[in-house]
Amino acid sequence: MNIIVTGGAGFIGSNFIFHMLKKYPDYRIICLDCLTYAGNLSTLRPIMDNPNFRFVKESITNRTTVYKLFEEEHPDIIVNFAAESHVDRSIENPQVFLETNIIGTSVLMDACRKYGIKRYHQVSTDEVYGDLPLDRPDLFFTEDTPIHTSSPYSSSKASADLLVQAYNRTYGLPTTISRCSNNYGPYHFPEKLIPLMIANALADKPLPVYGEGLNVRDWLYVEDHCKAIDLIIHNGRVGEVYNVGGHNEMKNIDIVKIICKALGKPESLITYVADRKGHDMRYAIDPTKIHAELGWLPETKFEDGIQKTIQWYLDNKDWWETIISGEYQNYYEKMYNTEGLLK
Ligand SMILES: NC(=O)c1ccc[n+]([C@@H]2O[C@H](COP(=O)([O-])OP(=O)(O)OC[C@H]3O[C@@H](n4cnc5c(N)ncnc54)[C@H](O)[C@@H]3O)[C@@H](O)[C@H]2O)c1
Repeated sequence: MNIIVTGGAGFIGSNFIFHMLKKYPDYRIICLDCLTYAGNLSTLRPIMDNPNFRFVKESITNRTTVYKLFEEEHPDIIVNFAAESHVDRSIENPQVFLETNIIGTSVLMDACRKYGIKRYHQVSTDEVYGDLPLDRPDLFFTEDTPIHTSSPYSSSKASADLLVQAYNRTYGLPTTISRCSNNYGPYHFPEKLIPLMIANALADKPLPVYGEGLNVRDWLYVEDHCKAIDLIIHNGRVGEVYNVGGHNEMKNIDIVKIICKALGKPESLITYVADRKGHDMRYAIDPTKIHAELGWLPETKFEDGIQKTIQWYLDNKDWWETIISGEYQNYYEKMYNTEGLLK
């Protein structure tokens, strides 16, 4: 099986590639990633010499290169993680979100139509459903919840989902979509809540929390998300959407307090800052469908996952300190040349 994984130098994509190479040693994985600020090639260093792995530095919006890659690799499956993924950045500059998240998705699917594939899988997000009120803990997002977006990021992801469903219906493209809640775990870029708080706490810097920190997110350990996608691409029904979430709702402020406690840092480091524009209050996924159809259940409890994650950041300071210093962006140029990676 040949699988193109886009965005594989980012947080979830890299965890997915590690999972797949370990579980299916006879699969070939091709990572297509243009290494934006969020892509870090050093994450993939341990597998760069694996004969079943190939890295290609290019954008999913580049039709010529994407088609060339399909001609060279004859992929069976595409898993599209590549995206601009940070809500705050989408509020500052929506344009690039539209280009990568929507146009990039259409280029990949056009290539799938032209060359034929067994499955195109779109990695989407629970943010396409908008948010839920804090005073209705009985409400959850199901696959039938209407799309109702808040930020340019979630709007671009929702637009991509609609395109995926249109390509399935209009062209018969064998697609699936997963909509997952917030992930946490190793290789999470240090601008996101959990790694940011760990890095700042370790440096005794203020821990900036939006508003009063009451926003609720449904947290899932990244490995559980990777296992869900693995199940969907192999056994999921074509044309379907699967919600992925751990029934693990936490207020942002409580997560920050857990991190302070685990690192032995005072809660006085917590600093409340002006709330994000259009900040969603609560996300909560109903994962009944993926459980009933594919037998998926999250395996890592939050109490264990957060301790594992904190320990990972303590053991891998080099990885995130290089990112914070900005040096990681030179890694590609230092270690590889374009010719060596792109045929
Ligand atoms: N992080 C979460 O909690 C979460 C939850 C649900 C869904 N998702 C979705 O999962 C996917 C991956 O999220 P993540 O947190 O790993 O993101 P990330 O920002 O860590 O990684 C994104 C990767 O995509 C690459 N990329 C960006 N634009 C590209 C382009 N035009 N061409 C090729 N590569 C490009 C980047 O270089 C980076 O390696 C995204 O689609 C996101 O919407 C994320």
